[in-house]
Amino acid sequence: MEERIQHKDIIAVYPGTFDPVTNGHLDIVARSSQLFHRVLVAVLRNSQKSPLFSTEERTEMIRSAIGKWPNVSVESFEGLLVDYARQRGAKVIIRGIRAVSDYEYELQMAFMNRRLAPQLETVFMFPAETYSYLSSGLVKEIGLLGGSLGGLVPQEVESRLRRISPSSSSLRK
Ligand code: PNS
Repeated sequence: MEERIQHKDIIAVYPGTFDPVTNGHLDIVARSSQLFHRVLVAVLRNSQKSPLFSTEERTEMIRSAIGKWPNVSVESFEGLLVDYARQRGAKVIIRGIRAVSDYEYELQMAFMNRRLAPQLETVFMFPAETYSYLSSGLVKEIGLLGGSLGGLVPQEVESRLRRISPSSSSLRK
């Protein structure tokens, strides 16, 4: 039987805009759920990125995709991530890195978060290679233009994108 080493008692927060959640995000959730006692997927409210989906929609889409991991839950947050993590008793922030292009932004955030809350550790994880080119921005563009998203997002996400008329939507990341 496969041995599962979970860092006992460690609560990890996996924050993001998740507009919408992709299978790349879920791959990181799956890996984190194996490592940490509890994983909280934290959806940013009022993002400056003007999300296509409301906070509630983004949260619902994640909720319907995480049922198979009993130690994973989702909620939204606003304000500073470090404050939210502290309120939830989390010791770890999880971020997924796909390519070198993600690195600079992620490093900046990790150092800034460390300055704000030195006790919080940022842990970077890599999704499966299959998802290394996947982004929420591309998913929106392809989905809204009628392209196939099979294997890239949960069915629920694809259906929701299909229901949105391209003329009334924003294609921003
Ligand atoms: O999926 P994203 O858009 O790359 O996620 C960015 C997110 C939500 C992790 C980041 O914007 C964030 O933490 N926002 C909360 C406000 C905050 O703490 N800002 C300072 C970050 S150093």
